[in-house]
Amino acid sequence: MTLPQSFKASAIMPTVAEIRKDFPILEQQVHGHPLAYLDSTASSQKPIQVIEAMNRYYRTTHANVHRGVHYLSEAATTAYENARLNIARFINAPSPKQIIYTRNTTESLNLVAYSWGRANLGPGDEVLITEMEHHSNIVPWQLICEITGATLRYVPITSRGELDMEALDSLLTEKIRVFAFTAMSNVLGTINPVEELVARAHAVGAIAVVDGAQSVPHLPTDVQAMDMDFLAFSSHKMLGPTGMGILYGKRELLEAMPPFMGGGDMIREVKMEGSRWNELPYKFEAGTPAIAEAVGLSAAVDYLRGIGMDWIADHERRITAYAWERLSEVEGLRILGPGPERRGGLISFVLGDVHPHDVAAILDMDGIAVRAGHHCAQPIHDHYCIPATTRASFYIYNTEEEVDRLVMALYKAKAMFDL
Ligand code: ALA
Repeated sequence: MTLPQSFKASAIMPTVAEIRKDFPILEQQVHGHPLAYLDSTASSQKPIQVIEAMNRYYRTTHANVHRGVHYLSEAATTAYENARLNIARFINAPSPKQIIYTRNTTESLNLVAYSWGRANLGPGDEVLITEMEHHSNIVPWQLICEITGATLRYVPITSRGELDMEALDSLLTEKIRVFAFTAMSNVLGTINPVEELVARAHAVGAIAVVDGAQSVPHLPTDVQAMDMDFLAFSSHKMLGPTGMGILYGKRELLEAMPPFMGGGDMIREVKMEGSRWNELPYKFEAGTPAIAEAVGLSAAVDYLRGIGMDWIADHERRITAYAWERLSEVEGLRILGPGPERRGGLISFVLGDVHPHDVAAILDMDGIAVRAGHHCAQPIHDHYCIPATTRASFYIYNTEEEVDRLVMALYKAKAMFDL
């Protein structure tokens, strides 16, 4: 295991100040203010260890993988496959063969919906998702239901922004073939009880598909203990590069599924009459893959492991509780979702009737980066009868001082809009 550079010298827990030294992008000023990056839910920043791993790869190792016998091709293949093994260990997958490289969570979820869905769904079958899903875990299921004739159902959310477990009881019938849900909402921050939901899906014979885009970067993940059938997540939200995602799946399901895309590397043999498929995981990896990005994600995994996922979860709990308390004091500001004890490191809110884009633009003038909009989750916003929210999200490098700056800038916005 490679510890992040800053923590090698001592076995003591890192401080946020030490962590921040690894993120060159955070050193800059924006509009004359130090950058306060509160948008990691959209995309996290990258430590120097990740940037250097990718640089080193391109400077010393790059060639195409699985396609050559020359030195560089073998070196690149080793780096690419070692990364897969490292990622498998990070989520406690039984085998690297169960780690499929994709471009992002969206592609991972589309892969399951199309490949598993086309082979297993038909009229009379039902697909269950929830009202708090990101569009990536809604639209692929809408499309596959249209193709197969299956029916799409939604678990509603309560006024507290949690899944309505009573409604789930009546929706989870034996007609449900797949229950797909987020482990953590990217708008409400709600942390769902993954193990319980997986067990309830299995009790009616359904498979459980988990969108881990927001949970894997922030909470310890053990796919064997959690027992989900599929888990999708993205590299760019967990300190790794963009253009790289992961689909973990149970081996017997992946073995039985037809390919998602056709092309090079995913075949065993191609004849003019037809083709046969490569073994796992390559059956699902058509074309030249994102090799440097796999190396970068592996370095990100080393970094997260070096800090410790328990430390990360604790740090985010503390900073979110602090932010929740401070934001709750701002008159006219409404926070969506559950209290800090039930949420991950993000807070979406509305400030009176000020448009969230205006709020975000005012914050930006003070060097504070937040996201505004529907966050690719329109049904949640429809539920609250609002078109958009402003969202502040936190990661390992954020401080309470940045939360204070956020709150001060919101008071400024209130004054500008006479609230
Ligand atoms: N899913 C990402 C977000 O919530 C892009 O911002």
